[in-house]
Amino acid sequence: MERSEELLRVEGVCKSFKKMMAVNRCSLEVARGTITALIGPNGAGKTTLFNLISGFHRYDEGKVFLNGCRIDGLRPDRIFHKGLVRTFQISRELEKMTLLENLMLVPAGQCGERIWNAWCRPWRVRAQERQIRERALETLNFVELYHLKDHYAGNISTGQKRLLEIARTMMADPEIILLDEPGAGVNPTLMNKLMGYVRQMNEQGKTFLIVEHNMELVMSLCDPIIVMNAGSILTKGTAQQIRTDERVIDAYLGG
Ligand SMILES: Nc1ncnc2c1ncn2[C@@H]1O[C@H](COP(=O)(O)OP(=O)(O)O)[C@@H](O)[C@H]1O
Ligand SMILES: [Mg+2]
Repeated sequence: MERSEELLRVEGVCKSFKKMMAVNRCSLEVARGTITALIGPNGAGKTTLFNLISGFHRYDEGKVFLNGCRIDGLRPDRIFHKGLVRTFQISRELEKMTLLENLMLVPAGQCGERIWNAWCRPWRVRAQERQIRERALETLNFVELYHLKDHYAGNISTGQKRLLEIARTMMADPEIILLDEPGAGVNPTLMNKLMGYVRQMNEQGKTFLIVEHNMELVMSLCDPIIVMNAGSILTKGTAQQIRTDERVIDAYLGG
């Protein structure tokens, strides 16, 4: 038997800010191995839903399952260790480090084990560090940032920072990756590059849930497409089905 088809399941999730329901009884599933899109007009609740799934907001209600295990209520770092990663902009702290250091920081193994090894098996720590360094260099090479490995992250271009975010995600080696508007402020050349990496990672078994406004891109890259409007899921389908769905057209025009 193969592992279960369903990787992520969101059940009846609600989140309000003051009296406004940003996410209102939202339910969806993401199947393993897909590049699933989450689209919808501005203010639909997509980012809020991402923040709920990845543990950055508290829930009012609802359940979230990853691989059949509940993850709602867990801290973001616990969810990260369970294999769900959401990309974030490179923070100020990380900007003070080199690209190589940025990547080497990512694979945070079991802390207890690390301390134990440092005391009792220092050779193992050194071997592990060598491995991490090699993987970091390979990853930098893959996203074509190798030549900048010793530069500070704060000094690279916005586009290069996007690539660095992707590289950090690769280092984390998650099962599912949540991307919130990867195309925002990115030129078409870089966008194609980013999407190429998404495709390649998908071929290597990674599942994606992507919020993106560029419809052309969504239609060519993602299947299925989930549509969100006013805090709820409106519909789900293939590019062809979504394109011709009256409710979807209304949601965009109505917003
Ligand atoms: N931290 C917050 N405090 C108050 N309102 C928020 C907050 N975050 C989002 N909202 C509101 O929730 C709604 C959904 O926002 P958001 O999830 O960012 O939508 P989307 O990502 O689909 O554009 C919007 O009306 C927004 O103004
Ligand atoms: Mg958003």
